[in-house]
Amino acid sequence: MQVTIVVPTFNEAPNVAELVQRVAGSAHGYDPEILFVDDSTDDTPRVIEQVAKSAPIPVRLIHRDHPVGGLSGAVTTGLAAATADVCVVMDGDLQHPPEDIARLVTRFRRGDVDMVVASRYAEDGNSAGLADGSRVLVSRGSTLVTKAMFPIRLKDVSDPMTGFFLLDRRAVDVADLKPRGFKILLEILARESLRVAEIPFSFASRHAGESKATFMQGVNFLAQLTALRFGKMSVFALIGALGAVANLAIVWVLSHMGVHDLPAMIVAAEITIIANFILQERFVFQDMRAEASGVFSRFAKSAAFNNAELIIRIPITALMISSWHISVVIATAMTLVAAFIVRFLFHSLVVYAPRRSAARKASPATRFVEELDRQSLSPGEL
Ligand code: GDD
Ligand code: MN
Repeated sequence: MQVTIVVPTFNEAPNVAELVQRVAGSAHGYDPEILFVDDSTDDTPRVIEQVAKSAPIPVRLIHRDHPVGGLSGAVTTGLAAATADVCVVMDGDLQHPPEDIARLVTRFRRGDVDMVVASRYAEDGNSAGLADGSRVLVSRGSTLVTKAMFPIRLKDVSDPMTGFFLLDRRAVDVADLKPRGFKILLEILARESLRVAEIPFSFASRHAGESKATFMQGVNFLAQLTALRFGKMSVFALIGALGAVANLAIVWVLSHMGVHDLPAMIVAAEITIIANFILQERFVFQDMRAEASGVFSRFAKSAAFNNAELIIRIPITALMISSWHISVVIATAMTLVAAFIVRFLFHSLVVYAPRRSAARKASPATRFVEELDRQSLSPGEL
């Protein structure tokens, strides 16, 4: 059986030779190919090419000059470019022991599943190699929360955050995955309905180099989780709510500093509009940026919309109060909700619309309905 081993690497030069050697030395019962998908800024690609020359098994390298989607993006690029349909994904720092690949393949060979997950939390698996107690706690805690949020999809998976698994690529639509951040397995499991088995494994400590996990990746992960569970609209709403609170706080501070009402309101509104844009770029529409127009064009559209909304909403609210005889609180609530929905639609359909060349050829009406469904109503996928 042909197996492509997809290894995402970011500055892992001192681990490459050891990884290739251990994969080659333990590849019993299957034909391995190693495919490095590299985003390094150091000499890792050179080292990989060097090692490939004398390696006893095929070693390929894809170096991305424009790394889209980080670790997850590298994995989906690798899955798409793999020679074999049966792919194993593993880290390049030897925390995932290459000797366990044969066990993943053996389990897959039974023929009853599309994916085999190497789990730290199944049977006698363990995470001895996690850097320290706080990382064990974070890992355990986030695994619990994640499982609670996808009780059906993840019922057979004790370790949805592992980066070590075998996947039969024919069972998923690789082009359709929206890679982001550090947790590609969760992305696949939440979106696709797969038959999954697990094997326990022991998570080793890093062979050399440093971990690339950061605090921001943790924040990113929470956004990914929320978006997968409740759709993009929920993260968008959360950022909007944060913006509203920030807006109030800025007005409060400025008026205490003696700034007049109108300038204080304008400054607060503009700061909030800019901050919201930055957060949306990062946490809501990150997977659509690559195909959308440039960042200045996106910002111009977004800022224009928000300013127009600001100017229009107040008189409309006033009109509703006078013509429908409803209270100011109810009228404001109604316009805020309506503005939120229109704002979300405007951003996902206009600000982050794919450039013309990237757009599919479908009628505008079809695209509108499909996009609406995909972006805002994507149901909580259990
Ligand atoms: N191509 C590419 N691009 N590779 C990356 C990037 C990137 O932006 N960021 C990290 N990597 C590679 C690293 O070089 C390494 O091979 C692998 O992804 C994992 O990154 P680490 O820096 O070792 O992170 P970690 O050990 O904290 O996290 C890993 O451990 C988790 C288990 O706790 C991740 O691999 C998770 O997937 C895994 O489950
Ligand atoms: Mn690691």
